[in-house]
Amino acid sequence: MMATRSRVQVKPTVRRAFYTAAAIALAGCSGFQSVLDPKGPRAADVARLHWIFTGIATVVYLIVIGALVYALWRASTRKPFIDEHQYHENPDQAQVMKRGVIIAVSATVIIMFTALVLAVSTGSAIATVRGEKPLRIDIVGHQWWWEVSYDDPIPQNQAKTANEIHVPVGRSVLLKMRSTDVIHSFWAPNLAGKKDLIPGHETVTWFRADTAGIYRGQCAEFCGYQHAKMAFYIVAQPRIDFERWLDQQREPAPKPTDSLTQAGQRVFLSAPCAMCHSIGGTGAYGNIGPDLTHLASRRTIAAGTLPLTTGNLAGWILDPQSIKPGAKMPPTQLDPQSLQALLAYLGTLK
Ligand code: CUA
Repeated sequence: MMATRSRVQVKPTVRRAFYTAAAIALAGCSGFQSVLDPKGPRAADVARLHWIFTGIATVVYLIVIGALVYALWRASTRKPFIDEHQYHENPDQAQVMKRGVIIAVSATVIIMFTALVLAVSTGSAIATVRGEKPLRIDIVGHQWWWEVSYDDPIPQNQAKTANEIHVPVGRSVLLKMRSTDVIHSFWAPNLAGKKDLIPGHETVTWFRADTAGIYRGQCAEFCGYQHAKMAFYIVAQPRIDFERWLDQQREPAPKPTDSLTQAGQRVFLSAPCAMCHSIGGTGAYGNIGPDLTHLASRRTIAAGTLPLTTGNLAGWILDPQSIKPGAKMPPTQLDPQSLQALLAYLGTLK
């Protein structure tokens, strides 16, 4: 008689749950925001140290647990010492125990010392900027967004953006960082460890991206209500693409060319927007919120909170507090025509 074989049917919900769990597990080790997926020398040094420490800790753990299991097993299979008198009558046993303690203490000291040397040498290795003439970028932490300035001795060559840091692949980047309000912490796990931004005190860190890609980073120091929505992206691109991007960022905003976008610019300049935001070449020089000169070239709004789409931007302008409660941006009252014109204008700020 032939047995009929049927395929096991897995419920779609179970399958989805499995894939989600697998994705979350994998995301912990690789992907765009992970210390275990280094994309530059600084992060690679830290990841290497992590794996060496994990290896040492694993070996020590296995030895300790092995010794414990052995001791328990041996204790259960033979008579214990009755008293101290008997212990001293068994000099061989005493000798073995003494040697065991000496070996264990020596091993502990050697392991701790090795770990100390590795940690200190890694710390000093990552503290030094590698490569010549790093690109300098100034970062200012705000509740809850990142101001990013590309410094240049020639004023026309300076550029300003927010929450998205473009860097050339293979060139070291020196970040000079400060904060206008509270302590924040810059952390792009794939590229470098954390570095605090401190009010009234400039701090410096550096990284180098060796692989082109988009790496997510975030504030790593609790800084208030929207600390969790203080993310940023590092866009590492080939040098030529980076130069092109930077040239474009240095330009003032494109002039509106049709009646809708011209109306949108008027809305921007007459609504409260211009009191907090700048748009290069328009006379809007507010410096409380992000510079919007090239807003439409960015990937997200509200410090990585939402992808930049017209719909999200509309929601954000009308009611930012429902998206990011506590954010400094107040709601803006606009009639539908004004909103459409404003969105059309902002969409031209490439
Ligand atoms: Cu800024 Cu947490």
